[in-house]
Parts: sequence; structure tokens; C-alpha cells
Amino acid sequence: MKRKVILDVDTGTDDSIAIGLALNNPNFEILGITVTWGNQKVEDCTKNTLKVCHYFGRDDVKVYMGEHHQLDTAKRAEVVKVNPDGPIFYVDENGVEHNLHPKSFNLPEPLHGPEEKDAVSFVIDTLMNSDEKITIIPVGPTTNIGTAFKKCPEIKEHIEEIVFMGGSVGMGNVSPTAEANFYNDPDSVHAIMQSGVKCTLLPLNATHAAALPMSDADEFEKNGSKGLKLLADVMRIRADVSKHLGWHDGTHEIIHDALAVAYLIDPSVVDKMERHKVDIDTSASIKYGTLILDGDTGNENVDIAMHADYKKFKKILIEYLK
Ligand code: RIB
Ligand code: CA
Repeated sequence: MKRKVILDVDTGTDDSIAIGLALNNPNFEILGITVTWGNQKVEDCTKNTLKVCHYFGRDDVKVYMGEHHQLDTAKRAEVVKVNPDGPIFYVDENGVEHNLHPKSFNLPEPLHGPEEKDAVSFVIDTLMNSDEKITIIPVGPTTNIGTAFKKCPEIKEHIEEIVFMGGSVGMGNVSPTAEANFYNDPDSVHAIMQSGVKCTLLPLNATHAAALPMSDADEFEKNGSKGLKLLADVMRIRADVSKHLGWHDGTHEIIHDALAVAYLIDPSVVDKMERHKVDIDTSASIKYGTLILDGDTGNENVDIAMHADYKKFKKILIEYLK
């Protein structure tokens, strides 16, 4: 039987590869793709999502636009005073902006726009009306899913599992200890964790372990499949910006979001999984968005991928990115 899934994205370079993997996985029944703010404004992420579906010949997949900002914007303004957001783009000598996540993907126009229904209503209605349990895969800020939990806690009973790309243990990419998706809306992560729903996290620890060397981009390009061509392009966009901003030397790239879908295709891509009681720091401090493991509060039903196998990840990408 196919796994029923809702993919929640902020497309987004690495999101586009997660979408490609999901669309090409015959074992998924994709009920819809919900879009959140994050890498760009939600309107731009939605358009990018539709373009990616069109690129893969899947204009039939329904796309729902969601939330515009995190649950607590006033608190976020306080946090930014402590830990200002860093740049994720540079401007070249011709005045052209090179963004880690392009505002508008350089791909053909989709056949239609998003559905009229908003993402949160779609999530609640779909879960509450389903006889089968549904898997949710959030690979952006978790505002859509957190809002759905706040509005209708009963959705928990209809969820098989939530498989996130998010979080980090002992490392961070937007603060010393926080990962971007969870940092962008810790209050919504907290709302989800409070429910006790079964969760699996693919944090930075796993996605960094599965980094792809740039020599793979040349190999992917030569392969000739549409999906691998997109992956090669995405790797080059990311490596260029990462190198210019001094994040790393540009010899590899991390395609975070694709690992969450790859895990559902072949769980053995994760070679070190740990069970922890998980909560998140929601205080307006330097710890904002940091995972709290095995503290007084939290969800005891959480598996955290601490490491992933690069070779298996690459094999899944080659097999499923048609
Ligand atoms: O930290 C990685 C996450 O942040 C990914 O989901 C990526 O798309 C970015 O938004
Ligand atoms: Ca993302």
C-alpha cells in the first residue's frame, strides 16, 4: 500500500530536490504540497513549488499556499537584536543578486496557480477526513503544521509520523546552536512536540554527513535525467553562494531537505538513529530555536538521525531523480 504524504516546503534550492524525489517515488501518494514562508516570501516559494512540479511533468499535484510568518513575530524581533540574521546572498560586480534560494526559479512557467484553499485548512481537513494515517514531511519552517496543531489538536490521531528536515545537536547554521527551519519558528515546533506525535528529525548532523562533493554535480549533469540536471544546477547555485559568503570552500554541497524524503524511501540511509525526549527553546535569547534533549518537558516519541550514509544518499538521488 502506498504511503499517504503531505509535503510542506519553502522552495528553495534543496526543497526542489526533495519535491523531485517525492514526485518520483512510486510508493508515495502525494495528497498535496503545502508551502510556507522561509527561504523566500510564501508567494515566491509557492510559485517556485509550482514551477518544480511543472518541470517534473506533475502539474496535477495540488499546491496550497500557507502562512506568511512565524507564530510570534514580536518575539522574533527581540531575538534578532541578540542574534541578527546573516546574509544568504551576495551581489556581483554587475549588480546581480546571487541568492542561496532564488526568489524566482529559472524554470518554465507552470500551467496553473495554487489551490484556493489555504495550506492550514487543507492540512486539517485532509487529516480529519482520512481513514488512513498520513505522513507529513516538513522541510521548511514548521508554521503551517504548528498552526494546524494549535487550531485542531485532534489531527494528531490521523498522523502516522512527522518526518522533519530540521534541528541540530551541538551545532547550528543560523546561530551557534540552532538550525534555520527550527530557528524560524520554534513556537510552532514546540506546539507539535507538545502533542506527543511520533516524530523523526533529520537534523544538520545527518544532512552534513551526507554532503555531496562537487565532482558529483558533473556526474549528475552528464547522466542526462531532468532531475539530476536540476540537482547539478542547485548544487552549483549553493556552492557559489556558500563560497562567496565564506561558509565553506565550495568543494561540496549539502542538499538538506532531500534527505528527509530519501529516509522515507530507504531508512537505512540513516546509519545512526537516537531516541530522545525532545523540546525546543522558545525564549528570546541566544538559545532561541535550539533543541532541548532529555529535559523536564518534551516529546518522548522522537527519533533523531545523528548521521547519514553519503553513498546511499547518492544512490537514492540517482535512482529516483528521473
Ligand atoms: O537548515 C536547512 C534548511 O534551511 C533547509 O530546509 C533549507 O531549505 C533552508 O531553508
Ligand atoms: Ca527548506
